[in-house]
Amino acid sequence: MPISAPEPAKRETLLVARGIVAGYGKLSVLEGVDIEVRAGEAVALLGPNGAGKSTLLSALSGIIAKSAGSVHFAGADVTRATPQQAVRAGLVHVLEGHHVFGPLSVHDNLLLAAFNAPPGERAARIEEAYEAFPEMAERRHLRASALSGGQQQMLVVAQGIVRRPRLLMLDEPSAGLSPVLVDRVLAVAAAMRARGVSILLVEQLVEKALGLADRVYVLARGRMALVSESAAGLAPAAIERAYLGGEALAGVQP
Ligand SMILES: Nc1ncnc2c1ncn2[C@@H]1O[C@H](COP(=O)(O)OP(=O)(O)OP(=O)(O)O)[C@@H](O)[C@H]1O
Ligand SMILES: [Mg+2]
Repeated sequence: MPISAPEPAKRETLLVARGIVAGYGKLSVLEGVDIEVRAGEAVALLGPNGAGKSTLLSALSGIIAKSAGSVHFAGADVTRATPQQAVRAGLVHVLEGHHVFGPLSVHDNLLLAAFNAPPGERAARIEEAYEAFPEMAERRHLRASALSGGQQQMLVVAQGIVRRPRLLMLDEPSAGLSPVLVDRVLAVAAAMRARGVSILLVEQLVEKALGLADRVYVLARGRMALVSESAAGLAPAAIERAYLGGEALAGVQP
């Protein structure tokens, strides 16, 4: 008998961040941000340029320090975890504009991503990435620098898959991709979600992000301006208002 997926609200919470304050030196960017991701859901994190989306992902994955707030992942306190510890726990951050190593082959780039995995698991993890992106399997012996920009971006996402995430945080994976490749990458994210992996997607292509997401956050000027339990029922006007940051906390649900 088929087992239906649990209702989003009944899913167990995987990531809970509360009151995150972070920035760069004297520049304060995040001013007390809350975000949650439940097991097996896709969440879109939207917002205008400079809102602090990438900063939030970096604060969650331990790349930058937080001056206040807490992060719990899979029941453990990871507020002060290093990026390596976060990855080991399954919290994987695919950075905005990340570059692959051009002189290395596609396969060696994936091996590099598997570096911290138990040696006996590396080959299987790389195979999972090739299954998600057959385009990479076909090009495994090519130097990464010989790939198109779009294919390199795919390889960056494939490296995220090799890290075997429980939560995959993708920061603008569509940047520089043709519309066809954007759909490919988002289809891979959807397939991972179907296998129970949670997705936190930062994306400028609002329509595309809403097409994937179960829930939506809009960050504006370092604060959550909108939290919606449904991507499908979200009015474009509400998103626009939140982008402008004019109605802070409009539509936030308890
Ligand atoms: N490494 C850094 N050092 C200093 N300031 C930074 C750094 N990275 C980002 N900032 C600043 O922090 C603020 C938030 O930037 P962030 O990159 O988090 O925004 P974003 O929402 O991801 O924007 P975008 O949509 O353009 O990627 C901006 O004012 C930006 O200039
Ligand atoms: Mg960014």
